[in-house]
Formats: sequence, structure tokens, C-alpha cells
Amino acid sequence: MQIAIQSQLPGARPAPRRLRLAALASAMALALACAFEAGAQAAPAAAQPAGQQEYVPNVGQDGKDVIWVPTPQTLVDKMLDMAKVTPKDRLMDLGSGDGRTVITAAQRGLTAQGIEYNPDLVELSRRNAERAGVGDRATFVAADLFATDLSKADVITMFLLSTINEKLRPRLLELAPGTRVVSNTFRMGDWEPDAEETVTQDCSTYCTALLWIVPAKVQGKWDVDGQTLQLDQHYQKLSGKLGSVPISDARLNGAEIAFTVNGVRYTGLVNGKTMSGKAAGQGKWSARRA
Ligand SMILES: C[S@@+](CC[C@H](N)C(=O)[O-])C[C@H]1O[C@@H](n2cnc3c(N)ncnc32)[C@H](O)[C@@H]1O
Repeated sequence: MQIAIQSQLPGARPAPRRLRLAALASAMALALACAFEAGAQAAPAAAQPAGQQEYVPNVGQDGKDVIWVPTPQTLVDKMLDMAKVTPKDRLMDLGSGDGRTVITAAQRGLTAQGIEYNPDLVELSRRNAERAGVGDRATFVAADLFATDLSKADVITMFLLSTINEKLRPRLLELAPGTRVVSNTFRMGDWEPDAEETVTQDCSTYCTALLWIVPAKVQGKWDVDGQTLQLDQHYQKLSGKLGSVPISDARLNGAEIAFTVNGVRYTGLVNGKTMSGKAAGQGKWSARRA
């Protein structure tokens, strides 16, 4: 996928022919490595009703906004581990390909749904889910991920592109605080991940998982026992003051807030227009929107 993006960079001056050929050769080698890697780990083809031609997707085939390249299974497992999924979670994979992330989540007891534009991949995913014995919990919808309601998901997984992640970012930030978003390899602009891990076993390309936890919205003024807490929010990172004293080590983890004032560590939970918790060694604290 990176190759496709680089070859489309606007305004790039053409390199000398020798360099262009060298670049082409290394790009082809990388593409073959990716294809081999992914192909070696692709889910086995699903059983096909008699008389019908079996659909076999090709690594690198066109998709609406992104080509199809499957996530290596070891990274699928890592992505779900990082999101700390439980059977109570509802997972949504945006651009679900052959269904492997959705099926793996369902095998862990989750209710999981794949959104995939290509109807052949949707059919293949449904057959793969049936074969894996999780057809009831792993469902697939043939749809455009940009026209899909994400609000029911506790966990969102994706293997798209940075540009698409950034386009989705405003909608992701509107999800319930604590919703986990995990991306294979591609980032989210200036919203830094809360965690990042790379797998080295059984994975040679696209081996990094990035996790974001949707933060509560706390920007602005709060009243804390008659004092003003001013919070300035940049995604999960916070700065500001309690009265005239700057806060430090301030951060959100979903709806959990933590900051230090005058050497005292405040921890608590944000609940819309109120928050409350404990100040280490000093008992309880609470705040409401000023
Ligand atoms: C890189 S593949 C990832 C597949 C799968 N999530 C995985 O990790 O193995 C991206 C997938 O997104 C699908 N896709 C591309 N644009 C889409 C769109 N606008 N809506 C839904 N699916 C899309 C492609 O068909 C492809 O299957």
C-alpha cells in the first residue's frame, strides 16, 4: 500500500532513468515480499456450493479506497490483545477483507461485525465464519465504511491508510469515551497512539499495531470546591491550572482522568458535566462544569 501512495505523490520531480529502474526493482521486490507474506498466511478458501466458481482474492487487488492486503494472524491476535477485548465487547472491523479479524474476535467470544465494500469478500467472510463455527457472532455487511454508523462499537479495528484514518478521526473522537481503536501500521495524524507494539514472530511486513483510546471531552473550565480547574485538551493529553497552580502529568485514559497539583495526585472519572475521584492522601474530590 505504501508503494501505491509513494508512486502517487504529487509534485515529485522525475528521477534519472537509472534511479527510476532501481526504485522500481526494489518496489517490486517489496511488493512480492508483501504478497508472499500475506498469501502464506491468508485464510484457507471457504467451502463453495457445488457448481459455483470459488472466489479467491488476490493480495493487492483493488478496493474502493484501499487495496486488499490481509493482516498477518499474529498481528490480528496482538491487536485484539492490545484492545483488551472481552466477550462483552462489540467489535467492528472497517474494511474487513476475508473476515479474519472479525472471525478471530468471535472465536474469543465477542460479537463482531465486518464492514466490507467488496461483496465477494463479504460472501467469502461469511463462509469462513460458518466454517470456523462462529457464523452467529461474526457477521458481515457489504457497505462503505464512510457511510456506516460506528456508534455501537466498543472496539474498532482497521488496516486502512493514514489519510483514511485521519478522515475517520473526527467520527472516532465522537464515540463513547473508552472506545478502543486499533490500526495495523497506519497512524492518525497528530492524535498520538496510547500504545504501539510490533510483533516479530511469523510476521515480516505490516507488523505494528497502534492503539488509541477515545478520550472524554474535558476542555474548558471546571469548578472544584470553589476553585477553577482550567483544562486544555489535545486528544488524551492535558495541561492547565487549578487556581493559579499549573497541573502536571495530566492525561486521559478514556473517561479516566489523572493529574498532579502541588505534588498531590488526582485521579477520577469523567461523567459528562461532572467528574469525581480521589486526591492521594487527601480524600475525595469532585468537579462540575463551570
Ligand atoms: C488492507 S485490507 C484489510 C483487510 C482486513 N481488515 C485485514 O486486516 O485483514 C482493506 C480492506 O478494505 C476494503 N475497503 C476499501 N475501501 C473501503 C470502503 N470505503 N468501505 C469498506 N471497505 C473498504 C478493501 O476491499 C479491503 O478488503
